[in-house]
Amino acid sequence: VPRNLQARDLLLLVDRSRPAPVSRQLEEQMRCAIQSGAFAAGEQLPSTRVLAQDIGVSRGVIVRVYGQLAAEGYLSLRQGAAPTVRAAVRFDAKTAPPPSAGPRLLYNLRPHLPEVATFPRRAWLRSVRESLEQARSADLTYGDEAGLWDLRVEVAHYLSRARGVLARPERTLITAGSTHALSLVSRVLARRGQETMAFENPSHHILRAVASHGGQAVVPAAVDERGIRPDTIGDAAAVCISPAHQFPTGVALTPERRTALIEWAQEADAWIFEDDYDAEFRYDRAPIGALQDLAPERVIYVGSTGKTFAPGLRLGWAVLPPDLVDDVSQELLNSMLHVSGFDQLAFANFLHRGDFDRHLRRMRQVYRARRNLVVSLLRALLPQHRVRGIAAGLHVVLEMASPAAAAAVQAEAEEAGTLVETIEQHSFADYAGPAGLLIGYGGLPEPSLEAAIRGLAKIVRAAPVDDRQAA
Ligand SMILES: Cc1ncc(COP(=O)(O)O)c(C=O)c1O
Repeated sequence: VPRNLQARDLLLLVDRSRPAPVSRQLEEQMRCAIQSGAFAAGEQLPSTRVLAQDIGVSRGVIVRVYGQLAAEGYLSLRQGAAPTVRAAVRFDAKTAPPPSAGPRLLYNLRPHLPEVATFPRRAWLRSVRESLEQARSADLTYGDEAGLWDLRVEVAHYLSRARGVLARPERTLITAGSTHALSLVSRVLARRGQETMAFENPSHHILRAVASHGGQAVVPAAVDERGIRPDTIGDAAAVCISPAHQFPTGVALTPERRTALIEWAQEADAWIFEDDYDAEFRYDRAPIGALQDLAPERVIYVGSTGKTFAPGLRLGWAVLPPDLVDDVSQELLNSMLHVSGFDQLAFANFLHRGDFDRHLRRMRQVYRARRNLVVSLLRALLPQHRVRGIAAGLHVVLEMASPAAAAAVQAEAEEAGTLVETIEQHSFADYAGPAGLLIGYGGLPEPSLEAAIRGLAKIVRAAPVDDRQAA
């Protein structure tokens, strides 16, 4: 039977010498009592009049306290009935999430990780503060599904100067990252009856899963040392590629192949989805420009802050051919209304101040040094293995004798607490190209990186060299 709590049971103390208002003090004590179970679910509290008299505060104070606790879900208030404690369900944010099984992680060398320790927190905070101070009221309500106009203008400027994209703000959409853009485009094309999308073999398996979930039949196209082979695309309605730094092999699409790919698209009346995921980081010569400017009416250009800034921000962009702008905007509207306007405001400010370019310049130096370290260590420690894909991005490929050998090294490295990936993990079933380990250097500072590579090299040296031994 639920108790009827009397005012004296509540042990509420009001300390008028404290700066916190009386209502706040009472609210905190009652909230704690409910959270800790001292007041159990179903117990009835004194009326506002009785409690106010007992504590010696005005009735309005108790009305406010009960109102706040009811709004938080701790009390239920009904006209004519005593206020009642509701069951308190509390999750402690400090509790660690359930432990994942498996060995402890020492070094994460998976290829998708950028460095986030250098995230320019102070500059970002300045942009958050300044953009919020300057925001119009309208900016804080629902916005344009295609994105905040000011940000679309800034992104279009950035893409034309840094990536050679023919970007106009009207055709530039703000997305929650490249994966999001691919999902939107897959669904739009599928709805138009264009339901086959080719992907490079190998290519990121998550992107293929996203397209497939969006209604696309996903088919392979071959990749060699000059990039994708357009003659192997078949009759797909679209092809997804990363021409500046193919994922995962790291090859750049040659100028002749670029032309051939565009010709294929024109002949087949097909789309090219250009995933420009890490091309900002190119180390030995000037960046390779985007493909999009060769055929802006055919190329869906997609980029993101996932590699360049912080994956957790979930902010990216798509520059669309005119014929797709409305449909993709509608898809965005009907799935999430739009990307967070607050983040868009901050990022527009950040771009406008030149802070994004500053960050990229800094990170290019950081990654170049890490890349040089990894390449020189691998060459010295494993001279029999070719190291490929080193000109750009955040990972290299260490060629292995066979997929089985690569998988064996990956498993052993994981056992020792080092995570790497393999080309095989990202290839279609019929892949017959070179096998390799994907070694990301984005997320580890040099001393750890050196230790990780030395440990990995030991495992590679001890690994079986062909399928028979690995099996
Ligand atoms: C090939 C490739 N494309 C795109 C992305 C980025 O995805 P998003 O922009 O959704 O973070 C990644 C991230 O790992 C990737 O590896």
